[in-house]
Amino acid sequence: MSKMAGKFITLEGGDGTGKSTQARLLADFLKQNNIKPLLTREPGGAPGSDEVRELILTGDPDRWDAVGETLLFYASRRNHLRLTVWPALERGEWVISDRFADSTIAYQGYGNQLGVDQVMKVHEVTVGDFEPDLTFILDIDVKAGLSRTQGRDHNEDRFERMEIEFHERMREGFLDIAKQNPERCVVINADQNIDKVQEDMRAILKDRYGFS
Ligand code: TYD
Repeated sequence: MSKMAGKFITLEGGDGTGKSTQARLLADFLKQNNIKPLLTREPGGAPGSDEVRELILTGDPDRWDAVGETLLFYASRRNHLRLTVWPALERGEWVISDRFADSTIAYQGYGNQLGVDQVMKVHEVTVGDFEPDLTFILDIDVKAGLSRTQGRDHNEDRFERMEIEFHERMREGFLDIAKQNPERCVVINADQNIDKVQEDMRAILKDRYGFS
């Protein structure tokens, strides 16, 4: 399962780091380099996964506990991998996913304090040793990130409404993941304008894959 024709690139980080915009711009860059990108996101990105998304992201912050939430994210992730990501990689496409498993480690493992070991038990059953080829971790001060989400007109805000300490723990979680996986992860300063963040990300792709 590990060596597939395409590449799997994930974007991770807290709320309000601008991941979705950056993912779109990255897909444009791949196209310019004659590579077919598949842009997707978690939770979601496959039949079944979108329904689970609705269950997890709406409603009261205490609607699910950390264990229930983790199982739901991984149920959604399993369909995303099985029905969307793995088939695309086998076809030789480059998949860009707005969030993947590092989000569960950071949000549920650190933020909700379930612990990394507990999350990894579910991870092993669901994902095995498959992992992204490259992960960008978009990092920004928690308050600055959350203030960017304020104007958003949506009801999928269950996590944005969690206490500030939750977000601080989650940010630390992402930075720990980056330290523990230096080959796979690159931390990007997200407290810069959109173009500069994208420039930093493209520089990594140029360096790793020889793009122009
Ligand atoms: P989304 O609206 O996609 O937010 P964002 O634009 O910030 O990515 O909602 C995803 C929310 O779900 C976000 O607050 C992070 C959270 N989440 C987890 O807690 N665990 C996970 O495994 C994933 C994938 C997301």
